[in-house]
Amino acid sequence: MAAGTALLDIHGVSRSFGDVRALDDVSLQIHENEFFALLGPSGCGKTTLLRVIAGFEQPDSGSVTLDGVDLLPIPPEKRAVNLMFQSYALFPHMTVERNVAYGLVCEKLPRAEITERVDEVLRTVGLTDKRSALPRELSGGQRQRVALARAIVKRPRLLLLDEPLSALDRKIRGEMQMELKRLQHEVGITFVVVTHDQDEAMSLADRVAVMDEGVVRQLDAPLDLYRRPRSIFVADFIGSSTILRGSYADGAWQTAGMGPIPADPSCTGALAVALRPESVRLVAPSDTTAVRRGRVQEVYFQGDHALALVHVDGVSFLANVRDDVLPTRDSDVGLAWDAAAVIPLFEE
Ligand SMILES: Nc1ncnc2c1ncn2[C@@H]1O[C@H](COP(=O)(O)OP(=O)(O)OP(=O)(O)O)[C@@H](O)[C@H]1O
Ligand SMILES: [Mg+2]
Repeated sequence: MAAGTALLDIHGVSRSFGDVRALDDVSLQIHENEFFALLGPSGCGKTTLLRVIAGFEQPDSGSVTLDGVDLLPIPPEKRAVNLMFQSYALFPHMTVERNVAYGLVCEKLPRAEITERVDEVLRTVGLTDKRSALPRELSGGQRQRVALARAIVKRPRLLLLDEPLSALDRKIRGEMQMELKRLQHEVGITFVVVTHDQDEAMSLADRVAVMDEGVVRQLDAPLDLYRRPRSIFVADFIGSSTILRGSYADGAWQTAGMGPIPADPSCTGALAVALRPESVRLVAPSDTTAVRRGRVQEVYFQGDHALALVHVDGVSFLANVRDDVLPTRDSDVGLAWDAAAVIPLFEE
């Protein structure tokens, strides 16, 4: 469900660079206090869209409004929008405190107000004790927090973050993801985060727009994106799944290579179906519930479960295994699933 009213309204925005259509008729609305993620492969137009919102790029066509006011004629520094760049740069010769204060000093705010706001923001990001440190004396995660503090201190209505965590290793990245979410609740600013990491988008955002070649392919809450991807592209991009082309007829999904398999009538008119690994059960080859028999190709240990790759008539199925005893490579297994778990995909 949409949170609040539309803060930012992007309508029919296109932008080309020579032959490249970086944005192709993009329309979307971002709500007040929302944590919104733009997700998509490299080159799909994510940064270009942020640059249009921030005012560093003019669209060839379309409109962008903030609180109903046309943003396009307003120069970047006058917009209530702040963009934290993909490769943020701190001033190396300035302390943490001065880095954070810089934007407010440029605005010529009274010194007392600057001190108060910087103190508050440093507390929020947990860097009070590092206020006198230089950037080179900080860890990657701490530098990232300084960059965030610098963006937040200006109190934008809308904070745009371009791959804010990409420079961090996996562990700090996980911590910073939680931090970002906490910060967003605490400061009450609308966040738009760009990432090409699906786990990051799915775990942080209230809604996610999945982009591909300048087009928004699907915009939904993470759970809906995962459970009801509409296209082969989104099913493939979000989570892992087995995708089977074919058509629905005679009460089953008719595949080219494997013949009919169980599916329900919601698959009528679909061009492919997806099966999530958690919907596929491994059973004994002789089990009467087995839909197909196959051979285990690989088993990937994942911590709380394992993922088995099973070959059936040249098709690779992924199945989650939660048993204590894992199947062994090259063993024969049966695969079973409920017809209702099959996800219909209606677009490429
Ligand atoms: N100033 C520019 N001049 C020419 N082409 C550009 C320019 N900016 C972007 N492009 C092209 O537009 C397309 C979209 O670029 P964009 O930077 O928006 O992608 P992205 O989704 O942010 O990718 P990444 O995940 O790699 O950062 C790409 O094909 C890119 O090469
Ligand atoms: Mg980018």
